[in-house]
Amino acid sequence: MCGIVGYTGHRPAIPVAFEGLEHLEYRGYDSAGIGYGFQNKLEVVRSAGKLKNLSEKISHSTTALTVTCAIGHTRWATHGVPEERNAHPHISNDKSLILVHNGIIENYLEIKENLVRKGYTFHSDTDTEVLVNLIAEERKNQPDLLHALRIALQKAHGAYAICLLERENPEILYAARMAAPLIFGIGIGENFVASDIPAFLSYTRNVVFLEDGEILVADANSYSVYRSDDLACVQKQEQCIQWSMQAAQKGGFRHFMLKEIFEQPQVIKDGLTGRIREWQGVVLPELDNLTIPRRLHIVACGTSYHAGLWSSHLFESWARIPVQIEIASEFRYKERFLLDPAEDLVLVISQSGETADTLAALRIAREQGVTTVGICNVVGSSIAREADVVLYTQAGPEISVASTKAMTSQMTMLACLAIYYGERKQVLEEGREEKILRALADLPKRLEEALPVMHTEAKRLSRKYAQAKSFFYLGRGHCFALALEGALKLKELSYIHAEGYAAGEMKHGPIALIDPNFPSFVIALNDRLYPKVKSNIVEIQARQGHIIVLTDFNVDIKVDDIWQIPSGMGALGAFFVLPCLQFFSYEVADYLGKDVDQPRNLAKSVTVE
Ligand code: G6P
Repeated sequence: MCGIVGYTGHRPAIPVAFEGLEHLEYRGYDSAGIGYGFQNKLEVVRSAGKLKNLSEKISHSTTALTVTCAIGHTRWATHGVPEERNAHPHISNDKSLILVHNGIIENYLEIKENLVRKGYTFHSDTDTEVLVNLIAEERKNQPDLLHALRIALQKAHGAYAICLLERENPEILYAARMAAPLIFGIGIGENFVASDIPAFLSYTRNVVFLEDGEILVADANSYSVYRSDDLACVQKQEQCIQWSMQAAQKGGFRHFMLKEIFEQPQVIKDGLTGRIREWQGVVLPELDNLTIPRRLHIVACGTSYHAGLWSSHLFESWARIPVQIEIASEFRYKERFLLDPAEDLVLVISQSGETADTLAALRIAREQGVTTVGICNVVGSSIAREADVVLYTQAGPEISVASTKAMTSQMTMLACLAIYYGERKQVLEEGREEKILRALADLPKRLEEALPVMHTEAKRLSRKYAQAKSFFYLGRGHCFALALEGALKLKELSYIHAEGYAAGEMKHGPIALIDPNFPSFVIALNDRLYPKVKSNIVEIQARQGHIIVLTDFNVDIKVDDIWQIPSGMGALGAFFVLPCLQFFSYEVADYLGKDVDQPRNLAKSVTVE
């Protein structure tokens, strides 16, 4: 999703803003631009495609080293194709303002019509160009930009994080947010605005998280935050970020994704630290004052949804809590009366804590008076701040667009949560809890040993199957969620069509697609469902389908490829399955020469609906 940076200080601002944009590349983008004030004029440099195109253009600019305030943007297209004319910053007709924006102004067409009637002209297809002109129009009747911004933002409906500069005072950054992330970084003699912390982490760790409906005004040495509805001053709390820039760098790996797959043992370890009471329980003091829900609604998107789906088996089996699992974009538009504040708990899962649909689902649950718990990775993110209780997954920054270690960290937290409820409800049989806890605690070491072997096997298989045009991923029980995730990873990274299916559903239609060119990746673990999975495998073989079986025991069938992995305890086997799926997709994509860390059309954090 779009990335915003703003800098005002004592350094050459264009290189600092450009560096910030590089650190936001992971969010996904298709064009980029930088804007600044120079000799009483506002200038913008923009280009379609990757940042190197922008860098070439900037290198021709002689002003690059003299300007000390600039704003920058990486754009993930929502309105209009990814061409230079749609890239940000956008400039107002009277050339008095430049603006970068992340989000969607829903009523922009209406505003545009009004402005056209007043004689404004537009050169892009974006809602952002409409917004910058709306602000410029309001500025005509207001004493300063702050007041104009207030009026304009009251007229613009939707989601936005914006940053803008005015020709009159081009050393002052103006910024505002509504349902899209924006963070203010406080340096010494310099200040920053960005969509995410890595953009300025090399310069400062001191931050202020802006809230919805707030406007920031900052120069190099001071800042103020105002409520956008009445311009009352808001006293903000400054916070210090604990993680380092090193944690957000590749550390010798070819891609962030590979690094993040290999970080998973550590992620499990960090997630369990302080959470296991040897060997009698799980420590989740955040939840001790909440009642145990009769029904759990798990709401999330993408990979986080798959973590939630996997965990539904744990909640039902270990804690005897019925689970309704829903995709956030569906949940948010369902009939609200289905939620019962007395009995239900809404658990939202989000790595970024900023996914627009998940955030909306959380807000709806809160409006209904239902208790909400957020499982988030990004500290201080919107979901983390708005949920009644937040459980942090502590996975560190995840940079690769395709999520890997975040899912493992979510699964770790979800397993702890299921044990926690099982224990509080006293439904975990004698001895079972200890076994689960020991198995969890053993995971980091066992996985660390297994990962290099998994990687080698993934590489071998990727060469054999990379030419496939389509793939099925099949599983049953908790492995169904993993099948969905395997298919998602393959299509995200390699652009090979892949479908995840519950293995038992194949016979109801999908099996019609099977032929020698349509392989299936079957997850067949040593559990009570294996005989059923085996039948499904045989049915595919009867249609000449090729099969990879990922398994944790000596299966009694002959298939094209058997990929043997260590076994976990019951559903904890997922912690060994998941990295194999990740490695396989990674290797196929890398072999096919795809952009692994930034797949086409995708964004890391989807802050629009
Ligand atoms: C995007 C990312 C996915 C991620 C999903 C949900 O689509 O590309 O990797 O799983 O958003 O993100 P969240 O931050 O809410 O977990």
